[in-house]
Amino acid sequence: MTKVITYGTFDLLHEGHYRLLKRAKELGDYLIVGVTTEAYDKARGKLNVVDSLVTRIENVKKTGFADEIIVEESVGQKVNDIRKYQIDIFTVGSDWVGVFDYLQDYCRVVYLERTKNISSTMLREQNSPIHRVGIIGTGRIAERFIPEAKLVSGVSTQGVYNPHRESAERFARKWEINAYEDVEKFYDAIDLVYIASPHETHYGYIKAALEHGKHVLCEKPMVLQKAQAEELYASAREKQLVLMEGIKTAYCPGFHKLLGIACSGTIGSIRNVEACFTKLEQTGRRELTDRAYGGSFTELGSYVMLPVLKLFGKDYEDIRFDSICDEKGLDLFTKVSLRYPAGIATATCGLGVKSEGRLLVAGTKGYIVAEAPWWKTSYFEVHYEDPGRVEKYSETFLGDGLRYEISDFLSLINGNGDRAFQLTQGESIGLAGMMERFLEKRVVDTERLFRDGQTEV
Ligand code: CTP
Repeated sequence: MTKVITYGTFDLLHEGHYRLLKRAKELGDYLIVGVTTEAYDKARGKLNVVDSLVTRIENVKKTGFADEIIVEESVGQKVNDIRKYQIDIFTVGSDWVGVFDYLQDYCRVVYLERTKNISSTMLREQNSPIHRVGIIGTGRIAERFIPEAKLVSGVSTQGVYNPHRESAERFARKWEINAYEDVEKFYDAIDLVYIASPHETHYGYIKAALEHGKHVLCEKPMVLQKAQAEELYASAREKQLVLMEGIKTAYCPGFHKLLGIACSGTIGSIRNVEACFTKLEQTGRRELTDRAYGGSFTELGSYVMLPVLKLFGKDYEDIRFDSICDEKGLDLFTKVSLRYPAGIATATCGLGVKSEGRLLVAGTKGYIVAEAPWWKTSYFEVHYEDPGRVEKYSETFLGDGLRYEISDFLSLINGNGDRAFQLTQGESIGLAGMMERFLEKRVVDTERLFRDGQTEV
């Protein structure tokens, strides 16, 4: 019996896939089809896959050519599958010519001619028009957005708005997009908004964008008060618009792999989460001079609170903030300690104190550790009581990682798959609540500092 294997995403199954599978089956007696997982597609930079894994498998099954369907989860799996299933022929379309020649050491490799003028990418683009994105803000993160958005099919950056005309024009020149000073003209020219302006301006911009009927992706921290987050999500729901908080870690495949393993029971029940992220900031930058909204926690708190919220939830029993502040009361280093019914957590961040950036998840049977930059999760280890037993996991994190959140934002807008679990509205509201508590405490502490005459305003 001649055994054949082929692999693919098979998104929006089309004529090209059908013909490929038919010819693959004709090459032998038994055909195995490997269908890629969402996480693997994301990790290899294939964003915006529309159909879920289950639908793609169902569609392959319906062609009637596959004798067996398996799931392809990672790079390097093909060699193992070929050995395991004792494959005689590996086949794939001619768009891959040469790429899989290395498999010739294990079996015959056949490249079948690709069917012309059809692809999943084409169908995805036909099904969903290109969305024009407008950026609000012209800072460092806004700069990162444009090259990342270019890698996601279905979006094109149209223009930038900044009330400071010169900043908008400088930014627009650099990225060859339009600059808008008039906010109405800006909204007329776009379909979606990406907000990367100073934290305290987010609320007003989101509200206005939703009122103009635009979907919104807003940088973290989305807002600084719980009630504001609740109001904005309710408004988006009512208007049937997507509002998403952009914490890049929340959408990257490696972080989800880590969460999946943490929750799988491998390390037992989770009892302790420790997350730390420090980034020394140059003096004079807004993050270290804006007394009302700058500082470590507003800047980095969303990252360190994210694993805590994902693993323990938002219903903590107790929360305590301890900060090291500069003479004006701005936190250079903040440690948040939380107590939950099932465990404890600490989240540490700093702009003026350097520490070891690490994520540690400790359970009753073992622990997971991811070193810096764990917020761009690409590698982590699982350790057990037996020090000789260490499991190592890696996952691709491409570029600046914003492509993952842009792709998920688009999927939500196009109604493709439910990716909202990656950062739920409840979690985003929970984060706004923590920002609010933190800022309230900082105001009280700063007032006390000045009252006690330790410093001058
Ligand atoms: N294929 C083909 N003819 C096409 C499209 C795909 O023969 N017109 C083959 C590919 O070469 C591959 C298999 O079908 O062997 C699965 O391809 P996949 O990547 O899932 O499909 P594409 O349409 O190429 O998807 P995309 O546009 O997302 O790259």
